[in-house]
Amino acid sequence: MRGKLGDGFHYVSFGVGTGHKDGLIVEHLLERNPGMVYLPVDMSSEMLRLGTQESTHRVRLPGHRVVPVQVDFAIPQNLTELRGLVHRLVGDEPVLYSLLGNTLANFDDDGGLLANLTALARPQDRFLLEVASTDAVSDELAQEAVEEYARSRAYREFVTSALLHNTDLTINTDAVRFRGAVEGDRALRVKVIYQNQTGGDIQMMLPDRTRVPFPDGDTIRLYLTRKYLRKAQEEMVRAAGMRKVAATHSDFSAPRSAQGFGMDLLLLAPGEAPTPPAEPGTRTRADEIWES
Ligand SMILES: C[S@@+](CC[C@H](N)C(=O)[O-])C[C@H]1O[C@@H](n2cnc3c(N)ncnc32)[C@H](O)[C@@H]1O
Repeated sequence: MRGKLGDGFHYVSFGVGTGHKDGLIVEHLLERNPGMVYLPVDMSSEMLRLGTQESTHRVRLPGHRVVPVQVDFAIPQNLTELRGLVHRLVGDEPVLYSLLGNTLANFDDDGGLLANLTALARPQDRFLLEVASTDAVSDELAQEAVEEYARSRAYREFVTSALLHNTDLTINTDAVRFRGAVEGDRALRVKVIYQNQTGGDIQMMLPDRTRVPFPDGDTIRLYLTRKYLRKAQEEMVRAAGMRKVAATHSDFSAPRSAQGFGMDLLLLAPGEAPTPPAEPGTRTRADEIWES
């Protein structure tokens, strides 16, 4: 994968998270472009601060070439402004964009988000996408996916952290529910919800002190995630106007993970994949148009 990327890249990371993966990428790119600019993008100020600290502490990247951007990248207007900022900083030099850690799967309109993010890429730019994958879809596998998340206490704490920080609810991690389903012929989907299991109607207070009713048995959606079939990944990439330059796959090493679950890392470039040459004697669409 590294060998597929040339020299001279700058780096824009959508969703820096803990910054561990960005640290490896920054190190690699900086060796090949001592003048690189790094733009970690995240809507969480906390993630941005901690993630950027982690991703840059091992390298000598001067502060003025690290430009943290706190925005919601799901809002198209923010991407328009980000595009202007990136191009002002790097000119025509190539940029590597990334969306790692299966972040794409958290969005209802995952294909739309990928198209909006990859639209920033010019012909000289590249886009690194990491998504969770499954070799097949079935109700049993959806259940296996649920169990993979549900058995982790750390995961329950992670998904309830937004409730903990943004409401005055007393969090009960046993009230976290996981619903698995097959999403058409494209993915296994896991929705994570929080259910009021207190046996009574309650009110929760938001940071601006408004009170919101939370009736008994009612639910709040905490998280959405998916594991994609490879053909769905390819379809999203194609629909976004991108082509695959390189790809790697790793099987989950987690104990008791279902067979066929893994992570795929795709290096994308703008433009369509070249169509393989037609077999001699095979009629193509061009032949039909020519003959009509
Ligand atoms: C699943 S984590 C992935 C982190 C990291 N890239 C990795 O692979 O370990 C997703 C990150 O994206 C950020 N994020 C999610 N949705 C976002 C949005 N709409 N705008 C900006 N940041 C977002 C989260 O705050 C979090 O840091």
